[in-house]
Amino acid sequence: DWTMASYKDEAIRKIREQVGDRRVICGLSGGVDSSVAAVLIHEAIGDQLTCVFVDHGLLRLNEADEVVTMFRDHYNIPLIHADEADLFLGALEGVSDPEIKRKTIGKLFIDVFQREAEKIEGAEFLAQGTLYPDVIESVSFSGGPSVTIKSHHNVGGLPEKMGLKLVEPLRELFKDEVRALGRELGLPASFIGRHPFPGPGLAIRCPGEITRDKLEILRKADAVFIDQIRKHGLYDEIWQAFVAILPVRTVGVMGDGRTYDYACALRAVTSVDGMTADYYPFTHEFLGETATRIINEVKGINRCTYDITSKPPGTIEWE
Ligand code: XMP
Repeated sequence: DWTMASYKDEAIRKIREQVGDRRVICGLSGGVDSSVAAVLIHEAIGDQLTCVFVDHGLLRLNEADEVVTMFRDHYNIPLIHADEADLFLGALEGVSDPEIKRKTIGKLFIDVFQREAEKIEGAEFLAQGTLYPDVIESVSFSGGPSVTIKSHHNVGGLPEKMGLKLVEPLRELFKDEVRALGRELGLPASFIGRHPFPGPGLAIRCPGEITRDKLEILRKADAVFIDQIRKHGLYDEIWQAFVAILPVRTVGVMGDGRTYDYACALRAVTSVDGMTADYYPFTHEFLGETATRIINEVKGINRCTYDITSKPPGTIEWE
């Protein structure tokens, strides 16, 4: 794609011009936007860039390892992996209110990010993977009446607090253009096509109290569901798919014994922008096969339901 190639060169030129020989910090979440921003900036200024990956212990199966392997080992980008699962899960102990979960995670995230960023001596810039729709949204929402359905977390306010200037090389791009730029930069196709994943991670897919036990069960069930979707060639037709572990245990029968384990809900939707969504019309065969696999392969789950709520009136995530 020659247009993206020239866009890339121009973006690199602009980053060099803005940053000169100074240092940049980039928050890395493992998502497509921050990853593309990081790789682009690294091409522009090399080791003047340091990435900070705040790992809240609420990521999917093997996800943290994959982020570290890709950025540190494959791209050789200086990366600080702040493994803070104990801190986050400790603070979330006994918390079941969705907004308190979100706020707890958001606040700790900023604290940890700031602590790690301050260790990077002489950093003057903070890089963000802000896209054009984010820019528009923050403008059109300001001043108008607003209803907070869910408080999203980001590092808003931190640049001023730390006296950092922003580097936002994706500000003019839409999501599909960011993906094209990512391909231009050589990021793996499987990575670029990944479904969105929310900042608070698995916390909002675990209604009720979060425990390590539940998170482990959830990770395994989610991996089976995604594997099923990939095997049936459906991944790219779906906007987002995941499992939620429900805060209820139900009675079942396995072999000649009684089970008393968690129930889970499968969620899969189609959407253009995440603002509205329809549940995905899987065949009954697919659903039956997936439920059987999850219950057989994941110890701790003995019942599986499919969420057929569209947005609105539902939201995509459960919290
Ligand atoms: P809902 O659940 O509100 O989600 O229908 C719409 C889209 O936003 C994602 N989402 C988030 N993304 N931080 C994020 O970065 C958040 O706090 C957050 N909450 C929801 C959700 O996964 C879906 O794609």
